[in-house]
Amino acid sequence: MTCEIPVTDVDLFSRESVRNARMIDDAIRELAPVVRLAREDIVVLGRFEHVQAGLTDWRTFSSRSRPWHDPKSVRPEILLTDDPPRHTEVRAVLADALSPAVLLKLAAPFAAEAEAVVDRVIATNGGEINAVADISRPFVYKVLPDLLGLPQWGRHHMEAFGHMVWATMGPPNELFLEAMRNNSEPVFKWVDECCDRKNLDPAGLGMMMFVAADRGSITQDEAKLLVQILLSAAADTTVMTISTAIRAFCEFPDQYQRLRRDPSLARAAFEESLRWDSPSRLAGRITTKDVEIEGCVIPAGTRCGLLFAAANRDPRKWPNPDAFDLGRETRGHVGWGFGVHSCVGRVLAGLEAEALLRAIVRRIDRFEAGGDPEPWMTTIGHGPARLPVRIRRAA
Ligand code: HEM
Repeated sequence: MTCEIPVTDVDLFSRESVRNARMIDDAIRELAPVVRLAREDIVVLGRFEHVQAGLTDWRTFSSRSRPWHDPKSVRPEILLTDDPPRHTEVRAVLADALSPAVLLKLAAPFAAEAEAVVDRVIATNGGEINAVADISRPFVYKVLPDLLGLPQWGRHHMEAFGHMVWATMGPPNELFLEAMRNNSEPVFKWVDECCDRKNLDPAGLGMMMFVAADRGSITQDEAKLLVQILLSAAADTTVMTISTAIRAFCEFPDQYQRLRRDPSLARAAFEESLRWDSPSRLAGRITTKDVEIEGCVIPAGTRCGLLFAAANRDPRKWPNPDAFDLGRETRGHVGWGFGVHSCVGRVLAGLEAEALLRAIVRRIDRFEAGGDPEPWMTTIGHGPARLPVRIRRAA
């Protein structure tokens, strides 16, 4: 006997839902293992077990199409939009460039940049700052393009570019139009030029894509797309995860003190932040055959959303999921995705976060919440756009 897939008319991506994304995503997860969103005509899975299994089974949950797929969008159509074997070949190029051996050399400037960011905010001692605009974004928006070897000019377009790319992952709603209206021509022009081979630092990570193209692993056009994908995939995800960690430090001051006592927990804090409030609400896939989940059949050709954030707070998997706990075993969480498409940049993100969090705990005694955080008004991305906090300098 098969069950009907329950239908909800909830709009996952209205302004109100984006403001309350945690509550909305968790409610969908609890409604049923498989839920159809009437407005979007897609199905979503929110329970950890099914999300992880779906991400693992790439033959059934293919990346070749997905909800709201527009091949002509600004989102680079490569890698995240491929299945093996093509995906495997392209991913190998990135995996080489983003290997620990390469990154450990290129990441040397992270610590000094982290100190510089902390120097600037510490001078406010007690004054209110926006942890996104004053801590996490300036750090990531400096070290990432430096590492890629992008030119200095035009970097102020990074935020608008990130906003546009994230918007293309969701429905073409009001938030999408807002992101696209954001003076898009100069932004596209900048992205096109700054990722061009002739403008890249020969010693940077971006150039490694073109060197792989010279070897014949990918085409020159694909190399440029990969530099663009690195720029879009690496920036706001990392900014949001660090910002969310700082929000957690305000809400769970005992966990911040624990980190201060043992800074080797910096990575654990970053992973727990990813689990606690994942910066990517969902990933899209399309089913290649009928799939049965707890008695409900998702027909072949259905566009699906796998809800990372909901799965990472599924109480069936995570005890006391709303608590931010540095002692938690977070292994296997889906904040990095899972399976063949799992994040290829996680080592880099971890190095950035560790450098910044270590500088923070050494010099900041505690964070106190300021006013209410304001969410990033986008659809699939999730995290604060404004996080007012006060910091108290360590003695
Ligand atoms: C905390 C920061 C980050 C988070 C939370 C994150 C999250 C994710 C997630 C959830 C996926 C899987 C998407 C899917 O299955 O559809 C993914 C894939 C990817 N990420 Fe990240 N990411 C982060 C940082 C980075 C960085 C620093 C880079 C590059 C340097 C990067 C590059 C990529 C790429 C290229 C893919 C596609 C992999 C593939 O399709 O095989 N990410 N990331």
